[in-house]
Amino acid sequence: MKKRAQFATRLGVIATTVGSAVGLGNIWRFPFEAGAHGGGAFLLIDLFFIFVVGVPVVCAEFIIGRHTGSNVRGAFRALTPNKAWGAIGYLGLFASVMILSFYSVVAGWTMEYVYQSLSGFGGVSSVEGLHGRFDSFATSDWRPLGWTIAFLFINYVILSRGVEKGIEKMSNVMMPLLFVILIVFCVNSITMPAAGKGLRFLFSPDFSEISPKVVLSAMGQAFFSLSLGLGCLITYSSYFKRDTPLLRTAGVMASLDTLVAVLAGVIIFPAVFTFGMEPAAGPKLVFEILPSIFSRMPLSMMWSTLFFLLLFLASLSSTISMSEICIAYLTDEHGMSRRKATIINIATAMILGGLCALSFGSLGDFTICGMTLFNLFDYVSSNILLPVGGMAISIFVGWVLDKSIVRRELTPTNCSAISRLMVASVIFCLRYVAPVCIALVFIYGLL
Ligand code: PHE
Repeated sequence: MKKRAQFATRLGVIATTVGSAVGLGNIWRFPFEAGAHGGGAFLLIDLFFIFVVGVPVVCAEFIIGRHTGSNVRGAFRALTPNKAWGAIGYLGLFASVMILSFYSVVAGWTMEYVYQSLSGFGGVSSVEGLHGRFDSFATSDWRPLGWTIAFLFINYVILSRGVEKGIEKMSNVMMPLLFVILIVFCVNSITMPAAGKGLRFLFSPDFSEISPKVVLSAMGQAFFSLSLGLGCLITYSSYFKRDTPLLRTAGVMASLDTLVAVLAGVIIFPAVFTFGMEPAAGPKLVFEILPSIFSRMPLSMMWSTLFFLLLFLASLSSTISMSEICIAYLTDEHGMSRRKATIINIATAMILGGLCALSFGSLGDFTICGMTLFNLFDYVSSNILLPVGGMAISIFVGWVLDKSIVRRELTPTNCSAISRLMVASVIFCLRYVAPVCIALVFIYGLL
């Protein structure tokens, strides 16, 4: 059998998993979801789902992936003769293509904004003017469609040549840089006139805002942001080495991921209130606000270009991880060449992504259950498919998988009493807390 590729260094493991987790989910999706669902209350519930439910389920995906060294479908086949569990693999494949489709539309927006930044937003700097520019771009059909296809094409080139290693190396530099410039923008935002109001909105939870819908959205956000519930982390951890500490990797990944989302919130909300905008503006929120923020900074063109370029690269390391789910499946299970597998994956996303791109223009009136295709793909994948996948994975590892495998994978070699306690808590969360919490949210949120 061919020996499976492995991540070379521990930093490589962290950089790629964080590269998958950190992306538009943190900087674009978190602020607009928090803005639409009560700010602080949303953040609080999101944190609960990330650390109490998410981290254990991340560990569960890591256990499955590293133990079997296999793709989503192959992993379950290797672990259980019961075919029903294999459905988790198919659900993951389906969810990955759905997410890749709408995600590429927004990644395409970041490419447009790199271009716009270089051209100084056509000399427009008023808040209204910049909003108008976003609207006329997003509703124009051809440009968003073109960027979506261009973004997916870049993914194709990288994936089919198997040059993700280059991206991995690049993320080692880009991610810390992204981090540094987020901090610069935070400092800029907290000196804005309505900073206090923005920060209160984000950090002081108003419990009267909590409703089943808010809880469902916060749970979806936690899963989306951690790249969790669709087997992405099963696929990535199949490349982990035996001595990669799973629990620690899960903890570091969740913490950095959360930090980036919170920093994005600290940048956005003071500006939202300073410019008198509506926090519940939806998917366009961040793209309307950011240029207004930059236009008030010295060297605005440089900051703006750099930021959208880094956001584009962060999106790329996330979409590569989404595609890898399908590509590993098609090459391992169906013996396809990497090139053919990539074409199938990317071509499907181009068709579906193209339709999502038009959701803001010509297909704006085409709705299913009151949602445009773009919103529907986002809602169904994040709020339903990923949590269902996460629940199934936690039940599988908590109840079905041999306990000795779970303990062996989770326990580091020279294990202290504290790490034993941590391992026991993760197992407890997988057996009881995660499945029960997710089930309750569904019962209350969807009925
Ligand atoms: N976690 C990524 C982000 O926050 C999105 C993602 C979802 C990546 C699912 C892979 C799988 O942008």
